[in-house]
Amino acid sequence: MKTTTDSSGDVRLSGISKTYGSFTAVHPLDLTVPEGSFFALLGASGCGKTTTLRMIAGLEEPTTGTVSLGEQDVTALPPYKRPVNTVFQSYALFPHLDIFENVAFGLRRRGIKSVKKQVEEMLELVQLGEQARKKPHQLSGGQQQRVAVARALINHPKVLLLDEPLGALDLKLRRQMQLELKRIQTEVGITFVHVTHDQEEAMTMADTVAVMNAGRVEQLGSPADLYENPRTTFVANFLGTSNLIEAETGSGGGDEIAVRAGDCTLLLPRARCSAPATAGGKVLVGVRPEKISLVHADDAGSVPAGRNRITGTIADSSFIGVSTQYVVDSPVCPRLEVYAQNIERDARLVPGAEVVLHWSPAHTFGLDAAQDIGAGVEEAA
Ligand SMILES: Nc1ncnc2c1ncn2[C@@H]1O[C@H](COP(=O)(O)OP(=O)(O)OP(=O)(O)O)[C@@H](O)[C@H]1O
Ligand SMILES: [Mg+2]
Repeated sequence: MKTTTDSSGDVRLSGISKTYGSFTAVHPLDLTVPEGSFFALLGASGCGKTTTLRMIAGLEEPTTGTVSLGEQDVTALPPYKRPVNTVFQSYALFPHLDIFENVAFGLRRRGIKSVKKQVEEMLELVQLGEQARKKPHQLSGGQQQRVAVARALINHPKVLLLDEPLGALDLKLRRQMQLELKRIQTEVGITFVHVTHDQEEAMTMADTVAVMNAGRVEQLGSPADLYENPRTTFVANFLGTSNLIEAETGSGGGDEIAVRAGDCTLLLPRARCSAPATAGGKVLVGVRPEKISLVHADDAGSVPAGRNRITGTIADSSFIGVSTQYVVDSPVCPRLEVYAQNIERDARLVPGAEVVLHWSPAHTFGLDAAQDIGAGVEEAA
């Protein structure tokens, strides 16, 4: 594992944008990917991920702005002069060459004769040492993808760009390869910029995720930070599921803001509210489904004081093994989602049952109500 902290593998985008005619695929974007990090660009189809990646690679000329790798401005350099390699979804191995020669390709092209040691090391890294003399069609999809990674890494790029590299694989193999790629990145220590539309994939692998929407980065942060503290409805809905309740801000200061939703008063930490919390203003109160507890209305007395609470009726429930997922209709908000771990299941909690939902005010976040409450819901589905 690499321990140096020089910044030669930083990727810095300054004011970079791309327009096609009157259409803006990427709005001016400032972004720094630190050396050695695993960075994910996450967003729905058409939001500008590939375009951004191609501008880093030099395959697409930016309309405005610059790309720097470490201290070097590479904006004017052709792709082959940039210390960058790309792995695409269709990894296009050379079918007539065996695995060894596929991986050796970059070295041979540079006129390097003694490739054996390096190729063997690379095949070891991606755990394909045994497969060296097979042809690509004799390998599984996941193995072929690892050959593509080895083929790119043997050129010792400072940055590896990956554009939906696991897109062609089935779910189980994808999961395996996510862990595998993460291991490889940790081992070689170079900067990975990974493009995906799969939020789980981005969260599993990346140190930092940039959530893109319609050509803009909406929010950037660690997976946990994005999940716990989304600042837009798009991020709240695209990353996992959020319940968003329309509410009105009450008066009063302090660390918690009191808001009114129907005839309920809910509390939310001021520090977790990204909306302007002016008295009488509108705010969207957010809470994740797994943070909510659900009890039958007959047991309402058992709900501890100080909890946010809402009453409703179970509209739907699905048992999925580790948890049961409920949909609850409340006068305060329709279609609230609640995930309850299956520890002791209450047989009364079936569709039609009157229930009380409650959760800690600390698990509540606040968003600006001037946004589309449903942004990102369709895209994430
Ligand atoms: N050469 C081009 N000419 C015109 N429009 C383009 C061109 N390349 C991309 N676009 C448009 O720019 C937008 C962003 O495309 P891009 O390929 O970056 O999306 P993406 O986020 O990678 O999507 P996906 O997840 O489907 O791969 C899309 O609306 C696309 O149609
Ligand atoms: Mg793409």
